[in-house]
Amino acid sequence: LARGDLAQDLAGRHVVVSAGGTREPLDPVRFLGNRSSGKQGYALAATAAARGARVTLLSANAELPDPAGVEVVRVSTALQLRDAALKAVVDADVVVMAAAVADFRPAEYVTGKIKKVDGVDPAPVALVRNPDILAEISAHRARPGQLVVGFAAETDDVLANGRAKLARKGCDLLVVNEVGDSKAFGLDTNAAVVLAADGAEVHIPDGPKENLADAVWDQVAARLR
Ligand code: CTP
Ligand code: CA
Repeated sequence: LARGDLAQDLAGRHVVVSAGGTREPLDPVRFLGNRSSGKQGYALAATAAARGARVTLLSANAELPDPAGVEVVRVSTALQLRDAALKAVVDADVVVMAAAVADFRPAEYVTGKIKKVDGVDPAPVALVRNPDILAEISAHRARPGQLVVGFAAETDDVLANGRAKLARKGCDLLVVNEVGDSKAFGLDTNAAVVLAADGAEVHIPDGPKENLADAVWDQVAARLR
């Protein structure tokens, strides 16, 4: 969908964006989850479409309307998101992992609802690591020149933590949010710094998530070949 005031600088490009937060089931009625609303990922998808891209949005449990002109693929768990992502990135020019992926999932899924028993202590929940989808996509680029973007929320030394994470993940850009008690999660605005593997560091002031999304696409468009 063209938007008159913006260059169609992503025309002819396929971009894949993940959004929301994964849910890791314990039993048919319970899960481990997180507070990601999906708003930032949806803003990234909508703005990419407005700039001319073909967009695949991998949506993990976001309760948001489908952005116009975007193909939405719904997933729930980290393993489902990984499967959907590995399929979608095959012909992607850009991959943006904005979803909050659970680091761990319950080691076992109990097929019947877990019941409490009087006088018996509950069993501890054993967890196992989920695969790192961003690191995997970065390490095995499905296409030469494919650009991979990660998101991170950090506290304390935000820039140093962000640089270390960018290197560890092997992605091209890492969008780092400073989080505190009330920052970012579920809000409509977001300040961030975009760190690039080429050394660049771009500070985006607090503003609507659409502004941060457009600033991220600016950084991406400048690096597409
Ligand atoms: N990510 C991913 N797969 C995972 C965990 C994270 O693809 N299993 C992606 C997220 O979508 C995000 C980026 O990696 O784009 C950074 O997520 P973050 O949770 O900050 O990174 P972690 O390596 O899990 O580090 P931490 O221990 O700080 O949570
Ligand atoms: Ca994590």
